Amino acid sequence: MKVLVVGSGGREHALAWKIAQSPLVDKLYCAPGNAGTAALAGNVPFKADDLKDLLEFAGEKKIDLTVVGPEAPLCAGIVDLFEENGLRVFGPRRAAARIEGSKVFAKEIMAKYGIPTAQAGIFDRASDAVAYINEMGAPIVVKADGLAAGKGVIVAQTKNEAVAAVKLIMEKKEFGAAGEKVVIEECLAGEEASIIALTDGRSIVPLASAQDHKRIFDRDAGPNTGGMGAYSPAPVVTDRLMEQITVEILKPFVAGLRQEGIVYKGVLYAGVMVTKAGPKVLEFNARFGDPETQPILMRMKSDLVPIFEAVIDGKLDDRLIEWDRRAAVCVVLAAGGYPGKHETGAPVEGLERTDQLDDVVVFHAGTKFEGQGSRVKGRVVTAGGRVLGVTALGETIKFAIDKAYRAVGLISFKGMQYRRDIGKKALKYER
Ligand code: AMP
Ligand code: GLY
Repeated sequence: MKVLVVGSGGREHALAWKIAQSPLVDKLYCAPGNAGTAALAGNVPFKADDLKDLLEFAGEKKIDLTVVGPEAPLCAGIVDLFEENGLRVFGPRRAAARIEGSKVFAKEIMAKYGIPTAQAGIFDRASDAVAYINEMGAPIVVKADGLAAGKGVIVAQTKNEAVAAVKLIMEKKEFGAAGEKVVIEECLAGEEASIIALTDGRSIVPLASAQDHKRIFDRDAGPNTGGMGAYSPAPVVTDRLMEQITVEILKPFVAGLRQEGIVYKGVLYAGVMVTKAGPKVLEFNARFGDPETQPILMRMKSDLVPIFEAVIDGKLDDRLIEWDRRAAVCVVLAAGGYPGKHETGAPVEGLERTDQLDDVVVFHAGTKFEGQGSRVKGRVVTAGGRVLGVTALGETIKFAIDKAYRAVGLISFKGMQYRRDIGKKALKYER
């Protein structure tokens, strides 16, 4: 069959890497992809939100399955569009993707169906939001309603900071229409985990647990990023806790959506805070996590393609998925300045040296071939904030960490920055 992966990050390279291993697949495309996906797939020059071009391409090439990585095309209705045109596609429809596209919508569903989450107020006027902040006090969390490329959440330590965040979102319109409403919520304390599940609208199968590292610097200092590294499994998520999350969060959420007339199919990603009072939802996403997908897919032994097909056909079954019991760790190498302004175009050195390592895969994110567009493939150069996700398997998290960092030591590019403490939080559970 012919498969198309939509997107260009580390997540999409990991998806393409896994899909390319399927004996069912004889042709793989990635739109637009990166220098890493180019080795596995035909990169085609359509951006993830060029829905019309993607539709035309998929129709022309008779693509049998399209897998959508990022949230923007899902929220824009790529699944509806492909389905209306008779194409098979993995992901939630537009109405379902609203669980990520509107934090207000997600919060309302959670409230209606009793799903544990931070206490919150929803506001469409800045003055009301400010009054609520004054009443509740700090620390407090301010969130723009809509998609804001991961930047719409401000964890404010003081009331002034929270008020400034409301002004930035609602008055300065930093995130445009995404900031017409805000959610202001209680600041939760605990350890975070990424619970990434598949659902066909009825059955729910959680994938292996993972933990992301959102802040740019070691010891969780500095601003939030898309994610600087991840590991799987996350030992904070015991089997018992995963069961509790499934019963208290995932099942009632999917059932609640169904009651609202929304059949949710695809990836359901719950960002969860494990608090003293139990697991609580920080956010829902309608897609795979990035970088969590890199270590998770390194651990998946089964063929991913029949799993996607089962979701589309409403036949999802947990017997379809088998895991490597080893741990996987992914260290993100980012461009200097990320998550702020950063340079691109720096040559990436040492990639060929990592090819010789067992159980290590270097997933590409913001990379391209120099002079892309010409027929000769040039050197690999940086082309984004997060550049590579160096991912390794090991008997334990400790071994996986050591192996990933040994591979990191072989790679360099101008301005390269990365965290030195990826996976460290998990070590307190290992002895
Ligand atoms: P979100 O995009 O909603 O997951 O928010 C991004 C990050 O902000 C989360 O991964 C948390 O680290 C943090 N965050 C979000 N909501 C809360 C909350 N209610 N309490 C504490 N931290 C939060
Ligand atoms: N790594 C966090 C996310 O994908 O949203």
